[in-house]
Amino acid sequence: MTDQRKILVTSALPYANGSIHLGHLLEYIQTDIWVRFQKARGHQCTYVCADDAHGTAIMLRAEKEGLTPEQQIANVKAEHEADFAAFQVNFDNFHSTHSEENRELSEEIYKACRDKGHISVRKIKQLFDPVKELFLADRYVKGQCPKCHAEDQYGDNCESCGATYTPAELIKPFSTISGATPVEKESEHYFFKLPDFQEFLQDWTRSGTLQEEVANKLAEWLESGLKEWDISRDAPYFGFEIPDAPGKYFYVWLDAPIGYMASFKNLCESEEGKARGLDFDEYWKPGPNGENKTEVYHFIGKDIINFHALFWPAMLTAADYRTPTAVNAHGFVTVNGEKMSKSRGTFIKGRTFLNHLDPTYLRYYFAAKLSNKVDDFDLNLEDFVQRVNSDLVNKLVNIASRTGNFVFKAGGKLSSTCVEQEMVQHFIDQGDVIAEMYENREFSKAMKEIMTLADRANEYIQEKAPWAMNKEEGREQEVIEICSVALNLFRQLITYLAPVLPDIAEKTQTFLNLDSLNWEARTNILLDHEINKFKPMLGRAELKHVEAILEETKDDLRKEAILNGEAPAEEATPEPVEEKKLSNKERRKLEKERRAAEQLANAPKLREDGNEVIADEIQFEDFAKVDLRIAKIIKADHVEGADKLLQLTLDIGDGETRNVFSGIKAAYQPEDLEGKLTIVVANLAPRKMKFGMSEGMVLAAGPGGSDLWILEPHDGAQPGMRVL
Ligand code: MSP
Ligand code: ZN
Repeated sequence: MTDQRKILVTSALPYANGSIHLGHLLEYIQTDIWVRFQKARGHQCTYVCADDAHGTAIMLRAEKEGLTPEQQIANVKAEHEADFAAFQVNFDNFHSTHSEENRELSEEIYKACRDKGHISVRKIKQLFDPVKELFLADRYVKGQCPKCHAEDQYGDNCESCGATYTPAELIKPFSTISGATPVEKESEHYFFKLPDFQEFLQDWTRSGTLQEEVANKLAEWLESGLKEWDISRDAPYFGFEIPDAPGKYFYVWLDAPIGYMASFKNLCESEEGKARGLDFDEYWKPGPNGENKTEVYHFIGKDIINFHALFWPAMLTAADYRTPTAVNAHGFVTVNGEKMSKSRGTFIKGRTFLNHLDPTYLRYYFAAKLSNKVDDFDLNLEDFVQRVNSDLVNKLVNIASRTGNFVFKAGGKLSSTCVEQEMVQHFIDQGDVIAEMYENREFSKAMKEIMTLADRANEYIQEKAPWAMNKEEGREQEVIEICSVALNLFRQLITYLAPVLPDIAEKTQTFLNLDSLNWEARTNILLDHEINKFKPMLGRAELKHVEAILEETKDDLRKEAILNGEAPAEEATPEPVEEKKLSNKERRKLEKERRAAEQLANAPKLREDGNEVIADEIQFEDFAKVDLRIAKIIKADHVEGADKLLQLTLDIGDGETRNVFSGIKAAYQPEDLEGKLTIVVANLAPRKMKFGMSEGMVLAAGPGGSDLWILEPHDGAQPGMRVL
């Protein structure tokens, strides 16, 4: 190829404190498709990424897991890499921001900024956790909203009334890390003087580097004037210490984008990078006249545009590096029209998806609906199942499965002439149109074009009906000719879909016995060509698998939330663990979860007066969903093997009885309860426990253990009466 381009592509670096979820995957799959397309066109395209390993969140997460930050980020990196590989996201290098390359580059870029006078130092006041002895970022401070007095609001804005404020304005603030009341403390911070780059950024953001809607949004910011950017954090912090500033660390967002360069550098210096002739300076240093010989693209989500389109180009320019060719932002994944949510079970991890469905489906659905705009992306689960089945299974794979074996059985050779030259040529010509759509990241348009071609191929097969012809004596040759046309069309389609469906592309290469599915190779029609037996390529997606994903997600996130201290533990929940054979690692993990749950149950969020913080306001309709009934305890028993539970048999009126396991053993003797009235949550979903089904929950107050008091109605109430 004469005009081979040299292209470096990145996706945002995922934080090393959590798993890859479907929101992340929109970005990595979008980028991967674009990269695979460029490679298939014969360009030298390099795709790098890394884990974003620094910051307070990762430090605290490691502490909670009882690991050093280094161990923690190594574990997460292995997990991330496995997930990406499973979704066929094919990085040329996946590195870490906690690397020597990144330390060197970060120091170098910082020093260049400093030596040119773009760094200032001054004291600022911040909230400080006196127990943990660390400064608290806004998200680690909660309290009462100063405007509407809603409880439990974050330090920067109120989710109840929408007010914005500083953490210092919160009423009764507390540190979400230790629960302590924060104090104000002064400390010296380092700032990057972004206003020095006002004019440069005004030009840069308008020079075709950004999508129009992004440039317009940034213009508003630029007009209102840029502020200095705080780039330091005080110890303790997991990151790189700032040169000549003991106890001060680079803020995670300072060294994160530099991590793109570091990952690329790491590749350049590897055997593989050398073999490919990759030269760091060729990609990152401007030429003698300021021109760029290579292209650099960042794919990111819309939430991190400022970092990539303001701070990053300014820093690069300050340090005499080149700026990116373009920054491509995408919107956020919603599920069934709503934000991905833990409680709805739609915060789906990549791993959970893989446990039930083929990643090919997700790659295709993303491609089928992605444009080059910043709009959010709705993953509608029913539409998803319907779409992948109708496009991939019914339309695409069907072409090969209906024709392949007629050829195979007749000796496995495609015919030596093409009887539909014009149609095959049309498919080849459409490749240029489709390529332009890929190039412009108009994937949905490309998929539509490809599926229109697939429809044509199916119509052709339907019309010729080789299966009928095959039964007629003397038409064997005709059957081969028709099937050979169909398989040539299929080959064109798979060439165009290969960036999206690498797995199907690979299976097709085996089936059709092809060395390459590169774009250029497609112009030779396959004649007299040996093929192999057709093997099934993709089964149907089933709605029940999607439902299983949602179920597993809910379950998963409940455990995770407990670990993160976000949700209350449910009443004594001995999981049926002993029955299964567990590895030591699994046993330790479960034990840790159990301890975390216990700790949490015993230490609810406390106000200064020692009571639990009142939960967020709800509407009457919310309350009315809970069906509370008067119940009579007709039987109370010890449970063999359970040290916290009593088994209660409740009469809830109309002759209906319920079996409930309740964690009240330390507070009551069974005989003290029999015959008493109490209140039960009658419409709580039954829960399977180790000892049987629990079909409701008895209301009780108190911190737990022996300090627990069951609710009892006044005289006159009868079993079955609704409590409202
Ligand atoms: N560590 C930073 C990026 C540093 S880049 C120098 C970060 N990490 S992240 O893990 O929170 O997000 C990684 C990427 O995934 C970001 O581009 C982000 O926008 C994207 N997404 C995270 N959740 C998403 C959705 N729900 N939907 C679509 N993309 C989302 O930000
Ligand atoms: Zn408020």
